[in-house]
Amino acid sequence: MEYSVKSGSPEKQRISCVAVGVFDSRKLSPSAQILDDASNGFISNLIRRGECEGTLGQTLLLHNVPDTLCDRILLIGCGREKNFDIKAFQKANSVVATFLDDRGATEVFSCITELNVKNRDSAWKVSHAVQATDDSLYRFDQLKSKKENTRRPLRKVIFSVPSRRELPDGEQAVREGMAISSGIKLTRDLANLPGNICTPTYLAEQAKALGQTHRNFIVDVLEESDMEELEMGSFLSVSRGSRQPAKLIVMQHNGGEKDQKPVVFVGKGVTFDSGGISLKPGGAMDEMKFDMCGAASVMGVMSACADLQLPHNIIGIIPATENMPDGLATRPGDVVTSMSGLTIEVLNTDAEGRLILCDALTYAQKFDPDVVIDIATLTGACIIALGNHTAGLLGNHNPLINDLLNAGRDAGDRCWELPLWDDYQEQLNSNFADIANIGGREAGTITAGCFLSRFTKKYRWAHLDIAGVAWKSGKSKGATGRPVPLLMQYLFDRIEENR
Ligand code: BES
Ligand code: MN
Ligand code: ZN
Repeated sequence: MEYSVKSGSPEKQRISCVAVGVFDSRKLSPSAQILDDASNGFISNLIRRGECEGTLGQTLLLHNVPDTLCDRILLIGCGREKNFDIKAFQKANSVVATFLDDRGATEVFSCITELNVKNRDSAWKVSHAVQATDDSLYRFDQLKSKKENTRRPLRKVIFSVPSRRELPDGEQAVREGMAISSGIKLTRDLANLPGNICTPTYLAEQAKALGQTHRNFIVDVLEESDMEELEMGSFLSVSRGSRQPAKLIVMQHNGGEKDQKPVVFVGKGVTFDSGGISLKPGGAMDEMKFDMCGAASVMGVMSACADLQLPHNIIGIIPATENMPDGLATRPGDVVTSMSGLTIEVLNTDAEGRLILCDALTYAQKFDPDVVIDIATLTGACIIALGNHTAGLLGNHNPLINDLLNAGRDAGDRCWELPLWDDYQEQLNSNFADIANIGGREAGTITAGCFLSRFTKKYRWAHLDIAGVAWKSGKSKGATGRPVPLLMQYLFDRIEENR
C-alpha cells in the first residue's frame, strides 16, 4: 500500500474517493460539514432521511455529489463523538480500507485522521491509521494454491492533516506506521505458518535473512552443541524429544552509542507444543503451532527497529524448539540442571516454556542489559484470568512495569499487572530439586512468573504472558501481531525520554 499525508480541503480533491466521518446520531464531522456546505446540503439531506445514523462502522457511499471534485464520498459511522477513542479510531480506519478494497475505488483521501481522539496528536493518528489499514487488509494465503485476488484493490491512501505545518511530522508518522506494520506482518506470517514449515531451523534462517537486509544488525545462531557447552540443561531437556534441532537465536540492532546498555527482548519460540510426555488433549491442538508467537513478536520488533534505524541498542533472544513426546523425551519427575545452576524437577513436561526461557534469561546477563522483557504464550491460566483483551504483566521493577502499562494503553495494545508476591513462591517447592516447574492449579500465571523470577535477579525484568492476545481462535483463526505495537511504543517512549 502507498501511504502519504496531505493538507487540503475535501471538496477540492480530484480523486476517486474522499472518506469523512459521521457521528452518532447524524452529526457531521468538520470535513463532512465542509462537503455538505460545498454541495448545498446534499449530505445533510440524505442523513435527515435516515440514510446514515453514524453508528460505529456504518458506511454510505455517495456518487457524483454536486460541486465536489471527487468521484465518490464515503461516509463512515464513527459512533458517539464523546466515545471516539483508540478502538473507535482503529475501527473507522479499518472500515474505510475493507469497504473500498471490495469496490472500485483504488485511492482514497481519508479525513478520519482529522477527527479528535482524546490526548492524541496528528502524528499519532497518522501512524495508527496506517497500522489499522494494513491490519485490516492482512491475508495469509501463502499456502493456498488458488489466491483470492481482489479485482481492483485499494492501492493508495492519503491521510488528511489539518495544516501544512504538520506535513513533516505526518510524513515521519507514515514511515513509523509502515515500519511497525511490516513488523506486525512478519510476526503474523511467521506465527500463522504451521509447525512442519516453521521449525526452529526456519526461524533461525528468517533471522539471518533479517541480518542480511539491514545495517548494524548482527545475527548469531547457537546450536545444541553450543548450548551443551553453556550447560543449558533446562532448555535442552525440552528439545530432547524432538527430531528438529533446537536453536538459540540472538539478534542485535546496534543503533545507540557503544556504551549504551541494551534493551533485551526474549521471545518464547516453541514451534509446536504437543505437551511432550504430559501430552495435551487433542481438541484445538493445532493452535499450539502459535506457541512461538513471543519469538515472532521479537522478530517483528527487531525488524521494525532496523527499518527505522532506531538510535538505541536493542537485542532479541529466541530460544526455539519443539516440545514433542518420544523415547528420548524428558519424563515427568526428571530433574534437570539449568544454566544458572538451579536444579529443576520437571513435574509436567507441558510447562516447557519456562524451561527454555530460564536458560535464555540467564544467557541475557552477558549483554549487561538495562532491562530485559520476555514475551511468551506461557499459560492457559492467563486466558482464564484476563481473557483475550489484555496481556498479563509481571516483573521485578516498578518503573518498568509502569512504562509497559502506559505504552500498552497508548498503543491500543494493553497489558495488565498481576502480583508477583513472595506469598506465591512456595508453590514451587520441590522435594527432590531446588524448584519444581509447576505450582499447582491456583494462580498459574503468577507461579509461572515466580519461576522466571528465580532467574532474573541480576537485572530489571518484566514478563508479558501473551497466551490470550497473540492469536484468535474460531472462524477468524490467526495470529494478531500483538504485542508488537506495545513494544514499539515502549521503545519510542524511551528514546523520547533520552533526548
Ligand atoms: N503453551 C502453553 C500455554 C497455552 C495453552 C497458551 C493454551 C495458550 C493456550 C504452555 O506451554 C502450557 O502448556 N502451559 C501449561 C502449564 C501447566 C502445565 C502448569 C498450561 O497452561 O496448561
Ligand atoms: Mn506446554
Ligand atoms: Zn507452550
